[in-house]
Amino acid sequence: MAESLSTRVNSIETSPIRKLIDMVDKIPNVIGLHAGEPDFDTPMHIIEAAKKALNEGHTHYTHTAGLPELREAIAEKLLKENNIKADPETEITVTVGGFAALFSTFQTVINPADEVIVTEPSWPSYEGFIKLSGGIPVHLQLKAPDYPLDVNSLKEKITEHTKMVVINNPNNPTGAVYSKKELKVLASLAKKHGFLVLADEVYEKIVFDNTHHYSIASLTGMKEKTITVNSFSKTYAMTGWRIGYVVSNEKITTGIRRIHSYAVSCVSPAFQKAALTALTAPNDCVQQMVRKYKERRDITVEALNDIPGLQCIKPKGTFYLFPDVQGLGLPSANLAEQMLKKAKVATIPGSAFGPSGEGHLRMSISVSKKDLLEAVKRIKSFVRTLPSRRDR
Ligand SMILES: Cc1ncc(COP(=O)(O)O)c(C=O)c1O
Repeated sequence: MAESLSTRVNSIETSPIRKLIDMVDKIPNVIGLHAGEPDFDTPMHIIEAAKKALNEGHTHYTHTAGLPELREAIAEKLLKENNIKADPETEITVTVGGFAALFSTFQTVINPADEVIVTEPSWPSYEGFIKLSGGIPVHLQLKAPDYPLDVNSLKEKITEHTKMVVINNPNNPTGAVYSKKELKVLASLAKKHGFLVLADEVYEKIVFDNTHHYSIASLTGMKEKTITVNSFSKTYAMTGWRIGYVVSNEKITTGIRRIHSYAVSCVSPAFQKAALTALTAPNDCVQQMVRKYKERRDITVEALNDIPGLQCIKPKGTFYLFPDVQGLGLPSANLAEQMLKKAKVATIPGSAFGPSGEGHLRMSISVSKKDLLEAVKRIKSFVRTLPSRRDR
C-alpha cells in the first residue's frame, strides 16, 4: 500500500526522552532536570564569529567533509588533547552534531544482522541508530553504582556476528568515565575478535575531581579500529548550532562522507567558522562551565542523600546525576510521572535507558544552584507523601 510506512521507520520509536520533554512543556512552574543540554548561553566570542562569517558572505555549501581550516584545527586538537593522530584530508568529517556523526557511522559500517554491543544503561538513541541500519542491539548490562566496564560480561556477549561495541565515555546517564585500564581490556578484545569500537566522547570535557578522560583511539593499534564521535554541543553550550565531527580510518571516512552528503549535504559554513573559533580561542569559558557543574553536583548530591530512600554517588563526569530510588518503592516511570505532576520536578525515568536503568532517575544539573536546591526540597516533600515512606 502506498500509504504504509517503511519497515525501517516502524522498527523504531520516538525517543522516550523526547516524549517527556513534550509533556513537561505543557505543565507550568516545573523545574526541569530532564534536559540533556547545558543551561549556559553559547560564549559571546563564538556567536560573534558566526555573525562575522555571515557578514563576510560565508553563506554557501561547503565540502561535505567540512571546511579544511576547521578539520586542520580538529586534527591539532585531537593530537594535543586526545593523543590521536588523524589526517584532516582523509580521516575527519565535520557533521551536523554528534547525531549526524552517529547516524552516518551506523549506516556506513553496519549490515543487516550485524550485532552491535551497547553498554547499558545507555542513551536511548543508540538503539534507534542500530535498528535503522538493520543491526541487532546487544545490551551489555553494567552494574550500579559506578557502572565499570565489566570485561567478563562483555566476553559473554561477543559472537562471530559482533561488528561493533559502542561506548559512551563519559557516560550519559551514569556519569561513568572509563579508566585507561578498562579501555585497554576493551581494546585487546577488539583486536582479538576483530570488531570496531565506536567511542562517543561528546561529554569529554565535563569531568571532575582530576579525572582524566582517555580516548580509546589513542591506544596502540586502536586508531584503525575506532570511530570517535565528538561535538561542540555540550563542551561549548552549542546544542542548537548542530555541529560535531567524526574521526575514523580512511575507508570508513569515505563511507561516512557519502552518507552524510545524502542526509544533510554539509554543515552551515558560518557555524563551521564559529566552531573554529571555539576550538582555537582560549577555553576559559569551558573551564568556568565545568567549575559550575562541579559545584552544582556537589550540593545536589549532598542534598539528595539527605532524602530517605534515595542514594546518589558523585559522578566523575557529565552534567547528569543518576540516583538510586529503589528505596521509594515505585517503578521509575511511575515515580518520574508523579514527581512531575505533584512536585513539579521533571526527571527522566531510569528505565528509558534500558532495563538496567530501572530503579534510578536521571537528573540533569544544568539549572542554577537555586533551582537545584528548590527541586530537591520539592522532591523531599513529595517523598514524604509516598505510602512506602509514610509508615517508616
Ligand atoms: C551520549 C550522547 N551522544 C551524542 C549526543 C548528540 O549530541 P549533538 O547531536 O547535539 O552533538 C547526545 C545528545 O544528547 C548524547 O547525550
